Amino acid sequence: MKLTSTTLAFLVAIFSVLASTNVLLINPKTFPLFSFPFSSPINKIVAKIIPCGSIHRSHHHHHHHHRRHADDNKRVSICDDFPSDFVPPDTNTTSYFCVDRNGCCNFTSVQSAVDAVPINSLKRNIILVNSGIYYEKVTVAKAKPNITFQGQGYTSTAIAWNDTAKSANGTFYSGSVQVFASNFVAKNISFMNVAPIPSPGDVGAQAVAIRVSGDQSAFWGCGFFGAQDTLHDDKGRHYFRDCYIQGSIDFIFGNAKSLYENCQLISMANPVTPGSKAITGAVTAHGRASKDDNTGFAFVNCSVGGTGRIWLGRAWRPFSRVVFALTSMTDIIAPEGWNDFNDPTRDQTVFYGEYNCTGAGADMTFRAPYVQRLNDTQVSQFLNISFIDGDQWLQP
Ligand SMILES: *[C@@H]1O[C@H](CO)[C@@H](O)[C@H](O)[C@H]1NC(C)=O
Ligand SMILES: *[C@@H]1O[C@H](CO)[C@@H](O)[C@H](O)[C@H]1NC(C)=O
Ligand SMILES: *[C@@H]1O[C@H](CO)[C@@H](O)[C@H](O)[C@H]1NC(C)=O
Ligand SMILES: *[C@@H]1O[C@H](CO)[C@@H](O)[C@H](O)[C@H]1NC(C)=O
Ligand SMILES: *[C@@H]1O[C@H](CO)[C@@H](O)[C@H](O)[C@H]1NC(C)=O
Ligand SMILES: *[C@@H]1O[C@H](CO)[C@@H](O)[C@H](O)[C@H]1NC(C)=O
Ligand SMILES: *[C@@H]1O[C@H](CO)[C@@H](O)[C@H](O)[C@H]1NC(C)=O
Ligand SMILES: *[C@@H]1O[C@H](CO)[C@@H](O)[C@H](O)[C@H]1NC(C)=O
Ligand SMILES: *[C@@H]1O[C@H](CO)[C@@H](O)[C@H](O)[C@H]1NC(C)=O
Ligand SMILES: *[C@@H]1O[C@H](CO)[C@@H](O)[C@H](O)[C@H]1NC(C)=O
Repeated sequence: MKLTSTTLAFLVAIFSVLASTNVLLINPKTFPLFSFPFSSPINKIVAKIIPCGSIHRSHHHHHHHHRRHADDNKRVSICDDFPSDFVPPDTNTTSYFCVDRNGCCNFTSVQSAVDAVPINSLKRNIILVNSGIYYEKVTVAKAKPNITFQGQGYTSTAIAWNDTAKSANGTFYSGSVQVFASNFVAKNISFMNVAPIPSPGDVGAQAVAIRVSGDQSAFWGCGFFGAQDTLHDDKGRHYFRDCYIQGSIDFIFGNAKSLYENCQLISMANPVTPGSKAITGAVTAHGRASKDDNTGFAFVNCSVGGTGRIWLGRAWRPFSRVVFALTSMTDIIAPEGWNDFNDPTRDQTVFYGEYNCTGAGADMTFRAPYVQRLNDTQVSQFLNISFIDGDQWLQP
């Protein structure tokens, strides 16, 4: 999806400024130009990156030289620090798979662990991902349900790749992680697309961090990092809690039915000059295409902030359905709040609602006429996990 050229008029060099101030060089031999252009909190990851392979015993043992002579110059495995209880024993209902980029357990890539999970497993298959950035494109095929990615924290564990709509033959295939399986769970891990941030007029620069296409998926304490089209919340019923989601244009898009609770939605859309009416981004682009689609995005107790002048949503498809409830919003939200994708016929068919939101961006005085100020009755179906039938499948 692209913003029109007029609304893109104010896309300026902020992304490249960020890129030059927050350059992250990782594994220079493999990725000489791989820079991570985003601001905090992900920079914390940098500090935690551990060099690959083994390390030399340092000279601070020098005073023990007479006793440790035999160890001098011996290459000591970095895995000496790897906790022996990192992987719990399998049970009748749960199998564990361990991923460590330094090779301290069975798998060094997330994909190789996914490949080792039996097809159509009825057990929960927990893939423990140790701290670090895993540069790989990961696919969880439809025949691999019941997988959990368990990271060590969304600022210390991440899966990153840099496909774009152009390089992947379409936005839908650009995801660094693509999940087609049902019952996928992720905890305390980040998904990133580190492709260059699109410049005005760029074609095919959309870059998805994760595509979630299976039913009954849950994300706890996860990070989603990208610019345009970060989170492809494609199909099925999904739950996001305590997540950090960063992007610029349409950064949560798709036709899923999802509940987002306690999430931070951070715009990195281009700033605008004061007084300008330019729009530089949008949080959502929900893709409900017909009145029979039982889909929608509900945001409850979230916060919206960051940079730019953005809409809460635009009507990617005519029956787009999005609700923001009990959410704080800074003044980056344009007064009209929402956009009909320049198609006035969609004003009759979209469902855009707000309920008890707070902050300068939540002022509804100048909202587009089709935006609804929901009352207690109208909003109730969006406020808890019943919206996604979570009472039937969601496990804490
Ligand atoms: C991804 O990064 C690699 C290493 O910098 C680069 O060679 C490749 O062209 C990039 N791909 C895209 C689609 O930008
Ligand atoms: C696990 O399965 C075995 C074999 O079916 C059974 O004997 C054992 O009681 C089960 N353990 C638990 C904790 O359910
Ligand atoms: C590695 O795989 C073997 C064989 O499947 C298994 O017995 C072992 O527990 C695994 N170790 C770790 C650390 O995952
Ligand atoms: C495994 O997946 C199947 C099919 O999606 C689902 O019915 C079942 O509840 C899942 N089991 C677990 C342990 O998650
Ligand atoms: C790219 O997409 C087009 C149209 O969907 C398709 O015909 C073509 O085979 C695809 N190419 C690759 C390499 O996937
Ligand atoms: C995730 O990280 C948070 C904060 O570090 C921690 O409190 C929580 O126990 C972790 N949860 C899981 C499931 O890893
Ligand atoms: C709302 O979100 C904040 C920040 O994530 C959290 O501290 C608070 O507990 C949440 N409130 C409820 C009612 O869940
Ligand atoms: C929403 O705001 C109304 C009016 O201020 C208030 O009566 C109601 O309790 C609020 N609802 C919630 C769930 O906070
Ligand atoms: C909420 O709004 C609906 C639709 O406008 C209306 O029918 C209903 O009476 C309202 N309920 C309350 C409690 O205000
Ligand atoms: C969710 O809210 C609905 C409507 O208010 C209510 O009927 C239902 O019991 C609630 N479900 C849960 C799990 O709290």
